[in-house]
Amino acid sequence: MANGDGTAVVNSWNEWDTLREVVVGSADGACYEPTEPGNRPQVRDRPDEPFPTGPKPPEVIAKANEELDRLAEVLESRGIVVRRPAPYDFSQPLRTPHFGVENQYCAVCPRDVMITVGNEIIEATMSRRARYFEYEPYRHLVYEYWESDPRISWTVAPKPTMASAMYREEFWTWPLEERHRRMHQSEFCVTQDEVVFDAADMNRFGRDIVVQESMTTNRAGIRWLKRHLEPRGFRVHPVHFPLDYFPSHIDCTFVPLRTGLILTNPDRPLREDEVALFTENDWKLVEAPEPVLSNSEMPTHCQSSKWLSMNVLSISPTTVICEEQEAPLHDLLTDMGFEVLTVPFRNVFEFGGSLHCATWDIRRDGTAEDLFP
Ligand code: NVA
Repeated sequence: MANGDGTAVVNSWNEWDTLREVVVGSADGACYEPTEPGNRPQVRDRPDEPFPTGPKPPEVIAKANEELDRLAEVLESRGIVVRRPAPYDFSQPLRTPHFGVENQYCAVCPRDVMITVGNEIIEATMSRRARYFEYEPYRHLVYEYWESDPRISWTVAPKPTMASAMYREEFWTWPLEERHRRMHQSEFCVTQDEVVFDAADMNRFGRDIVVQESMTTNRAGIRWLKRHLEPRGFRVHPVHFPLDYFPSHIDCTFVPLRTGLILTNPDRPLREDEVALFTENDWKLVEAPEPVLSNSEMPTHCQSSKWLSMNVLSISPTTVICEEQEAPLHDLLTDMGFEVLTVPFRNVFEFGGSLHCATWDIRRDGTAEDLFP
């Protein structure tokens, strides 16, 4: 396994070791996510209203940027190096041989597309057309890291066509009973023919990588990750949360906080046969408390659930950053011995992510550990 001494410029093996360098997203140039076969964005509680298109209003962008900048300041005050994405014009339409899309999305959530696995940076395939080029605002950083340290490897996962045949559009119209009936089949809006994954469907636990099968990661995507990572000494474990009928991105569902402890979503239990990996290795699964905001109180154009409450950023095995209004979660974490730092982040929710989504860790302390011996 490429397991150095932990001193490489890019070095991060799990979600909780002490953070030294991180990328924080930016709302500059953000657009509304377009309707496309892999995404049917809806105005919250008004599903019949057309979803806006094109650039988000400047005041919405400014409020989110204020919170992202505040997060950057808090991280810097703890001695963590903070890097930011390069400007990118998300209002540009895309045309490839296989699809066209009216505009792109944003660089608020680097976690969705970029992942550090040990000393390797992987750019995910992505699953939606509007996010096809979302790696671009981070490329200047990737080049800098890659040029500065020969121990760093850089992998771009195969780009899927994102042609119509890659999607199962009827997924969006299945009634609830149909979703329930199919809940163990793991068939969502992407088919199984091409390699598809978003980086945010992965959790890192040392040499073990957990990957959620979802609307944004299919079985071919997980096979690709297995074949890429297992020869390098990792073990890849697919996981499923059958009661989540619209699964996408694992970090509002299953959130490791330190060795032996995972914050779980009470509405989305892990599939029964998959729990043993954790319990048999003495990991404790602790349910997150009910979020302070209900689903209907989330920002109007936010496509994520109230469980953004549990999308926290660990900056060490003992310190976690949470959204400032999520008091029940602060209390739970404090009771479990964590130092809880808080920042306002509700205006970033509008863009579908919270603190974990809005960051991409470049360097943490530590090396590859075997946490599931
Ligand atoms: N799909 C997840 C969001 C993950 C950031 C949820 O809505 O809970």
